[in-house]
Amino acid sequence: MSKLYYPNKELAKKANIKSLEQYYALVDEAKNDYEGYWKNFADKKIDWLSPYSKVLDESNKPFYKWFCEGKLNVSNQCIDRHLEKRANQVAILFEGDRGDVQKITYKELSLNVNRFANLLKNKFDIKKGDRVVLYMPMVPEAAYAMLACTRIGAIHSVVFGGFSAEALKDRIEDAGAKLVITADGAYRKGKPYLLKPVVDDATKNGCDSLEAVLVIQRNNEKIEWNKKDHKYNELIKYESDQCPYEIMDSEDPLFLLYTSGSTGKPKGVQHSTAGYILWAQMTMEWTFDFQDGDVFWCTADIGWITGHTYIVYGPLSCGGTTVMFEGVPTYPDSGRAWKMVEEHQITQFYTAPTAIRVLHKLGEDEPSKYNISSLKVLGTVGEPIDPHAWEWYYKVVGGEKCPIVDTWWQTETGGHMITPLPFATPIKPACATLPLPGIMAEVIEKDGTPTPIKEKGYLCITKPWPSMIRTIWGDDERFKKSYFGDCEKNGESVYFSGDGAMIDEDGYITITGRVDDVINVSGHRLGTAELEAAIAEDEHVAEVAVIGTPHSVKGESIFIYVVLKDNANIKDIFIHVNKILARDIGNIAKADDIVKVEGLPKTRSGKIMRRILRTLAKKEEITQDISTLEDPSVVEKIKKALESS
Ligand code: PRX
Repeated sequence: MSKLYYPNKELAKKANIKSLEQYYALVDEAKNDYEGYWKNFADKKIDWLSPYSKVLDESNKPFYKWFCEGKLNVSNQCIDRHLEKRANQVAILFEGDRGDVQKITYKELSLNVNRFANLLKNKFDIKKGDRVVLYMPMVPEAAYAMLACTRIGAIHSVVFGGFSAEALKDRIEDAGAKLVITADGAYRKGKPYLLKPVVDDATKNGCDSLEAVLVIQRNNEKIEWNKKDHKYNELIKYESDQCPYEIMDSEDPLFLLYTSGSTGKPKGVQHSTAGYILWAQMTMEWTFDFQDGDVFWCTADIGWITGHTYIVYGPLSCGGTTVMFEGVPTYPDSGRAWKMVEEHQITQFYTAPTAIRVLHKLGEDEPSKYNISSLKVLGTVGEPIDPHAWEWYYKVVGGEKCPIVDTWWQTETGGHMITPLPFATPIKPACATLPLPGIMAEVIEKDGTPTPIKEKGYLCITKPWPSMIRTIWGDDERFKKSYFGDCEKNGESVYFSGDGAMIDEDGYITITGRVDDVINVSGHRLGTAELEAAIAEDEHVAEVAVIGTPHSVKGESIFIYVVLKDNANIKDIFIHVNKILARDIGNIAKADDIVKVEGLPKTRSGKIMRRILRTLAKKEEITQDISTLEDPSVVEKIKKALESS
């Protein structure tokens, strides 16, 4: 059994959840009266503009509805309701790549968001329900834009700035967006870079729904100005700083966020208004023990769900101070993050295992050069953390006093699902530990029987929860099939996460990784089917198979087997295929290994045996039976190709 790390008893006294007993009492409350449990929190945490009539409507499964007919507005929840008490408190603490700092108070945030909301309404005729795509760097205007959308009831869809023009175009078209908000560019590693040309490229053909592009001038680099383009910095001056918020229904869509699945094109995960914001706020308070005066830093990009929930909506709904960082933690050196912790007196630091591994590798002792004693809780997210990185994070960054919350969740879950509570849960390194109270996470077989202890099973959530995905934008059938088509319990379909997991004798859950064809590179989720589709379209490619293979820093890396057409004439397959991926998906999809092979291992029915490809990539012995392959000799040929590559 792995060593347990117990919470600090002194700090626990002041914590939001103080003990394991308190945790189990909440778990029991949820078990005994599920709707009553959620009602209690919804009543306490949300500023209802008019009350809901029913906690949970299960009449059209799996299209669950929460807090039916309740009315609220998320920008009120994140801004207006705090103004009386917190007008002069810093809401967003922005640090630019070059060290420039902006401290935006709640009052200033309010003025900026109101002006932005008026601009969207008056200039671009954005109405409730319209979709607005954000393709933005990490600057405060990105948060203003998100909150301005929520203020007027528009549905934002933030596209990560690392996605290519092609990927951006797909997302604009799928959402039927009326407006794109972008920036000329921003700064990275001390240098300006451009974003706007990617939008130009994405929108030069198609994108029929698009009426305008609003450009924030961040670095004033020279860019092309087209007919549809508008300058934010000029237009915003004329807008009033008063914009009444729209009255939204609990179930009105709050935002879309595209993510990769195991099949086909990316899915527009649709989140709701009330359920999402409730859980964003509750998990801030529980998982990070977020309290008045805390300065919270989540290093994610707002293009991912982590940035949505734990840079913008979670911290601000709590009336907290959230840090937003434009740069990278390794510039100008690997002490940057720790310098920021010291300077801003950061209390919670939340990042991905890949970043921890990089910071560890580049600066083993770097944290000790700074006074980072303000830290109270450390967090990780997005991929499994290995015990080695965990130990360094715990000892050197946390000084053996900060609990590490290894938070398991997904774009689809809206907020944390399985995680230690920092001052209640005894922690096992690299283990997500226990489900949050009210979250019915279970490790089961497909028929719902509990998987025996310490064996791999399917990680399912067996009851609906408020912040769950509502549907896939425009594709209810795909939603049902993707999440409710695999596993059931007591004869009813339940949400399957796509992850495998193991449960131990203490009920602790360890995530073992995806069991579907999704890979996780540096915490970025990529569907192998999506990558394969992009490559297969190339005129030189006959067949392709993409797998994930273990990587010491990135967790997993992309490994590609390509069969070229007979007449193909390609000098460098590595460059050729990576160019396709950069063009169609973006630089996050760069492969580390690309091997030219003569054929792929397939069953007689034509299914590619990825397990064999994974084993071969790891240079391990094949133990499975290959005699059933259509052409068993292909395995030896691949081995040879790997040796000479
Ligand atoms: O495989 C799990 C992994 O990340 C996937 C979700 O990716 P995404 O929707 O992009 O959201 C990432 C940020 C929430 C999951 O299906 N994952 C997430 N957190 C963990 C994790 N794997 C292991 N441990 C975690 N703590």
